[in-house]
Amino acid sequence: MTKIGIITGSTREVRVNLQVAEWVKNFADARGVNAEFEIIDIKESGLDRFNEAVPPLMTNKEYATDAHKTWSKKIDACDGFIFVTPEYNKNIPSGLKDHLDYLGSEWHHKAAGIVAYGSTLGIAASLALRTTLANLKVATVEPQGAFSLFNDFEEMKTFRPMDVHKPRFGELIDDVVAWSTALKTVR
Ligand SMILES: Cc1cc2nc3c(=O)[nH]c(=O)nc-3n(C[C@H](O)[C@H](O)[C@H](O)COP(=O)(O)O)c2cc1C
Repeated sequence: MTKIGIITGSTREVRVNLQVAEWVKNFADARGVNAEFEIIDIKESGLDRFNEAVPPLMTNKEYATDAHKTWSKKIDACDGFIFVTPEYNKNIPSGLKDHLDYLGSEWHHKAAGIVAYGSTLGIAASLALRTTLANLKVATVEPQGAFSLFNDFEEMKTFRPMDVHKPRFGELIDDVVAWSTALKTVR
């Protein structure tokens, strides 16, 4: 079965991120598609700031730490991803970027959808993430989650997305699963 990792983007103690990731998982599970969805929380990875001597593609996956090896196996096991990211200073959080930078071929020839949020819908963060994912040979689907801190969260803390998002969100799930399944043939 096609396996989709739902990757968190924020590691703050007071993050709203996990609520959004859990909503995405519940929505995806209820969609009844031929895929399994698992939340992969970067806050639990045990990885610190990226500080490797050489880029991951030059290491032949011979990583020095257990945390790095575990992260590699988790991402290797996925066929595709849904990234759930806030926007920090018009970009993705540095912690998410580090987790992307830590690996190379584990990402290649897979698909992803992007779910972003912020006071300006996380649009700038999404665009930055699309560029990074393109460099990692991850194909990003067009439908995008774009949630407003003002309209889709109660008091900017509790995630209560407006119903208007649901049709597009369904397309996002369907496209991620279809593309992730199709790209298995490329790897
Ligand atoms: C360092 C920092 C920078 C931020 N920059 C932006 C921004 O550029 N655009 C935006 O829409 N929201 C911005 N925000 C607001 C965040 O979107 C908001 O705090 C959100 O709750 C962060 O997600 P999290 O709680 O899951 O970490 C910023 C927040 C922080 C902490």
